Amino acid sequence: MSKDIWIAGIARGHNSGVCLLKNGEIVFSIEEERLSRHKYDGGPFASMVKILEYTDRLDYLVIAHTQSLNETAGKTDFTGDDVYTAMARKLGLIDRKANIYQHPQVIDLSHMHHKLHAACAFYRSGFETATAVIVDGAGTFLQIGLGREEFTAWETETVFDCSYPANFTTRYKHIGSRGPISEAIFNDFSAEFYNEVDQNGNPNKYTADVTGLKLCTEVVDIVTGKQIGRAHV
Ligand SMILES: [Fe+2]
Repeated sequence: MSKDIWIAGIARGHNSGVCLLKNGEIVFSIEEERLSRHKYDGGPFASMVKILEYTDRLDYLVIAHTQSLNETAGKTDFTGDDVYTAMARKLGLIDRKANIYQHPQVIDLSHMHHKLHAACAFYRSGFETATAVIVDGAGTFLQIGLGREEFTAWETETVFDCSYPANFTTRYKHIGSRGPISEAIFNDFSAEFYNEVDQNGNPNKYTADVTGLKLCTEVVDIVTGKQIGRAHV
């Protein structure tokens, strides 16, 4: 008899929660606020405890957020590992003896926040192929260097072409900031950072300016390809 595969996905930020999968099927999914009774609660610790009602071990703990687990999650006293790895470790869900700072069962997907939104929408859509339009207050954060200045920016809107089994090609990305870069256009963002390349393996190019909605008035042209080359590449 083959071994069951247990995977828990957690969201760290607002509306945090846990979704537990057994062999690819959802066992339970819950938002932390239902357990903590605090609306929009972040940090899904009570939800992680609930995993123990169904399994005493995980194969993988997959973490979604907008900022790096290692760089931005709180640290546990004494051991210094991030609080989510520590929680899973303390509950015995993941190997207690593995490297707690780069735990082989903990997968941080914070570098592809908009892609995760697209995957959630696409895989539940019933379509064989689709275009996903992501409009999000703040997706993955990145540091942008501009001259001698460096400032923080984040995914605001993204358009993906989606197809099976796991192809998500970026057609457009708007990156916003509160920095002094109004209407600036950049074309050298690291594709590696977002893990997004086109079908030929070439890095996609992105545009950045102030936070806010740019896409809504242009989405039809973008989806039909009319403005890709002119305005945003
Ligand atoms: Fe989001």
